[in-house]
Amino acid sequence: MVIQEKISLSALTTFQLGGSARYFVIVKSIPELKEAVTFSKKESLPFFVLGEGSNTLVPDEGFAGLVIKNEIRGIKMKEKKGEDGKFLIEVGAGENWDSFVALTIFQKLYGLENLSYIPGSVGGAPVQNIGAYGAEVKEVITEVEVFDTKMMKTRLLPAKECKFAYRDSIFKREAGRHLIITKVIFELGKKGRVNIGYKDLRAHFKDRYSSAVLPGEVRDAVVAIRKKKLPDWKVTATAGSFFKNPFVSKAHFEKLKKTYPEMPGFAEEGKIKIPLAFILDKVCNLSKFRNGNVALYESQPLAVVNLGGATFLEVKQFASLIAIKIKEKTGIEAEWEVRVME
Ligand code: EPU
Repeated sequence: MVIQEKISLSALTTFQLGGSARYFVIVKSIPELKEAVTFSKKESLPFFVLGEGSNTLVPDEGFAGLVIKNEIRGIKMKEKKGEDGKFLIEVGAGENWDSFVALTIFQKLYGLENLSYIPGSVGGAPVQNIGAYGAEVKEVITEVEVFDTKMMKTRLLPAKECKFAYRDSIFKREAGRHLIITKVIFELGKKGRVNIGYKDLRAHFKDRYSSAVLPGEVRDAVVAIRKKKLPDWKVTATAGSFFKNPFVSKAHFEKLKKTYPEMPGFAEEGKIKIPLAFILDKVCNLSKFRNGNVALYESQPLAVVNLGGATFLEVKQFASLIAIKIKEKTGIEAEWEVRVME
């Protein structure tokens, strides 16, 4: 394990911008992770754990601490005794998310098909509680193994203690700052029923019954839909959805509906979740908005793209401009979905 100095971070994130890490290290095991954390403590420096950098934005001044790139790998699968066809799968945080999803599909397991083709690492999945096409990863996580930097050892966190919510978990909050995800434990089953209720999937499968659709078919459909709608991060610098979809009160939604009768809204957690893409496109007329090197992606305005050479400051200014327009038209405060390395 080598601790390097002044490593540029832009190529390590899909948004491809920002400065350097004062210190940078790749860890491939728990002893290496322990060594890295010990170093940051000894130097009194903060640390930031990076996976595949698909949801992280690096400030132009970089990170004045230690960036730990988590490459802890390994996948172990065991059948649950006495429970027909249920499996517990322990996956190292440094595994690639979609390769792992593909593996579960190959094993004919139900549970992750809707979350196909999401960029990033397995360790990033619980941080964001990644979600797509009517599914959220919290539904299949039983435990998360963390390295507790206060206790300096690993421990298991039951899903309940992870405080999962829409694009949120304890790992994004101050209360979880001392926890580094080392493994994620999933429960998946060989028996099940796919969830094809989400608009785009419904349209894809037309009038087929969900009981007759296999996880592999859902994966293929999700991959095709994502390829059509979202920018390919290997070609276009982006972190996918830039803002979260907002939740508003019923009264607020009804008021908006009067002006915009077409506005979609979904009842969740006692509130109404509105697709911000609709607001950007139909309410603010921003679907092709561009400012310098930053733009909203044409077929999915929720995704902000770096057209090449954008700085963090430019992205921040761009996002502020958009947030102001959203606020003016709807009274909604748009919240960033992407994470800033700080
Ligand atoms: N819409 C428009 N104009 C557009 C695009 C969309 O009006 O140009 C409206 C439509 O009404 C559409 C609705 O927005 O039905 C929702 O669009 P979509 O199904 O593409 O989903 P989203 O709400 O924009 C969320 C996630 C995505 C995830 C998709 C699919 C968030 C922040 N984003 O986007 O996640 O893939 O649902 O389930 O919740 C990501 O997190 O990076 C990400 C891509």
